[in-house]
Amino acid sequence: MIATPVHEITDMAANTAAALKPALAAELEERRVALPMLPEAAFAALQLLSSPDPDFRTLSSLVHRDAALATGLIRAANSPAYYVGRKIVSIQQAIVRLGGRAVGEIVLAMAIEGKNARVPGFEPEMRALHEHGIITAVMAQEVARIRRGNVEEAFLGGLVHDLGRSVLIETVQKLCIRQRLPVDHGAVRLVADEFHQRVGAMVGSSWSLPEPVVAAMGGHHQPKSLDEGGLELPHLIALADMLAHRYRRHGEPDLAHPSMVALHIYAEDLQTLFAARERLDARIGAFR
Ligand SMILES: [Fe+2]
Ligand SMILES: [Fe+2]
Repeated sequence: MIATPVHEITDMAANTAAALKPALAAELEERRVALPMLPEAAFAALQLLSSPDPDFRTLSSLVHRDAALATGLIRAANSPAYYVGRKIVSIQQAIVRLGGRAVGEIVLAMAIEGKNARVPGFEPEMRALHEHGIITAVMAQEVARIRRGNVEEAFLGGLVHDLGRSVLIETVQKLCIRQRLPVDHGAVRLVADEFHQRVGAMVGSSWSLPEPVVAAMGGHHQPKSLDEGGLELPHLIALADMLAHRYRRHGEPDLAHPSMVALHIYAEDLQTLFAARERLDARIGAFR
């Protein structure tokens, strides 16, 4: 498993961040920040996942044209979560073994990673963010299943909840260069901590993602209470985010997480979930 790079927050990082924040705020205000486009494969995967009567043709033809997606699907079909005694070598077999939902989820995860993988100097951060997105997606899906809620929306919400961070890594790096400031990883993290929800929500709306997903991208750290018109998904993602961090560190779930009440999730639900580590590892491993 990939360790999240921890950069010490030095005085220089804090000063650089303080210099960057007003400039970034102005760029966001004037809509001068370049937002990523929704990748074609992600669009096809989203359609597949949201349709009650999924049509594989678009996705299948995309996978046939894209070697990375094809390899990813075949690898997933042979991973412990799906392996059933015979090694798969073709895309067609992989699609049959995985089934519609898993194909959609894997393509979605890969398409979103592909969008964010290459920022020179920040590869470890990008990999860690992708890994965190996948673990959060799987955790969100598990919590949604316990609640008999919308499993696909939970998966999508978990996968993209911190997308604003990866967009900001690129934006802030460019901003540092333009402002002749040192590209300090700690400073980038501080700026991303503060702005990633706002930027995430901008990306989510520009991709026309479902409203609850955009709300979760924009407000998963302190989700608005349901009594004040808040939605359930931001709470579910807040909980899944905590679970993902604890899980990665081999820790125990925080059984006093504030969103448990809103979601009617009990301590034993989370304990049972973490007791199934082997199954969860296999689920997460299918996305690697
Ligand atoms: Fe976040
Ligand atoms: Fe997160």
